[in-house]
Amino acid sequence: MDLFEVITKRRTHRSEFSDRPISESDLAQLIESARWAPSPFNVQPWHLVVVRDRAQKKAIADLTTCAITEQFEDPQFLDDNGRWMRTTIEEWERFQDGVLLQDHVDLPADLSNSTVLKPLLKHASHLSLLGKLGVGGKPAQEIAGLVIRAPVLIMISMDRERKPPGEAYLRWMWLGMGAMIQNILLTATALQIGSQFISAAIERTSDRQQLSQILGLPKSHEMVSLIRFGYLLHTDGEGLLPAKGVRRQSSDFVSYENYAQKKAE
Ligand SMILES: Cc1cc2nc3c(=O)[nH]c(=O)nc-3n(C[C@H](O)[C@H](O)[C@H](O)COP(=O)(O)O)c2cc1C
Repeated sequence: MDLFEVITKRRTHRSEFSDRPISESDLAQLIESARWAPSPFNVQPWHLVVVRDRAQKKAIADLTTCAITEQFEDPQFLDDNGRWMRTTIEEWERFQDGVLLQDHVDLPADLSNSTVLKPLLKHASHLSLLGKLGVGGKPAQEIAGLVIRAPVLIMISMDRERKPPGEAYLRWMWLGMGAMIQNILLTATALQIGSQFISAAIERTSDRQQLSQILGLPKSHEMVSLIRFGYLLHTDGEGLLPAKGVRRQSSDFVSYENYAQKKAE
């Protein structure tokens, strides 16, 4: 597979991975790809905690369950979700952005039709009521299970003490972290390893503090991403699952010479 193919075939995998452990050589390659990422002044501010121990995974999963359940009770969070949740594949393809609701929430059958869902999403307080009635518990449990059963979790943190000079140092550090994470995701794709960010676990300050303790992170470390990894269960002939994805057209976000000029002359 060439690089461009890896880039376009990388997807977020939200279902079960194979329970086959990630081989030491594949794990070493993921780590090596992180090592060679660019960063401002080559400060390399990253740290990776590779988690394979079941008790550690369970502690992370428990935090994730609570966080997701509480998110479902938060009208503001659900309101914000409504903007990016697409209720059908057709709608997703039309918008060319956002995420497919069914990939994130396992709704009761009578709610999963889009004529019911659309008005609900418009009035997120109804969804928050559903959260209070326990609907949020199911995705929370499912994600917790995926976290526990993932062969490898990697907690990626940024050491604020490795700061480059300049007023905008934090901005450049985060950009370096993003480049490093993409290196890992692309390498995983090339190795037929699926990946999924588990952001709910580190969304709230209180959860980050608890996780920091569980993982023994030094005070100077800022948690950036928790990602689960595992070999893909279903693959096409080339070993990759061509999971569906949508993207905006480049004409929508590229300008030439100035913002208003959309087409290259
Ligand atoms: C910083 C960041 C956080 C994300 N958090 C989550 C997450 O918590 N759960 C999840 O399923 N996907 C998460 N995603 C994946 C995005 O939803 C996904 O990249 C986007 O929908 C495009 O789909 P694709 O990755 O399959 O191409 C995250 C992605 C990024 C870059």
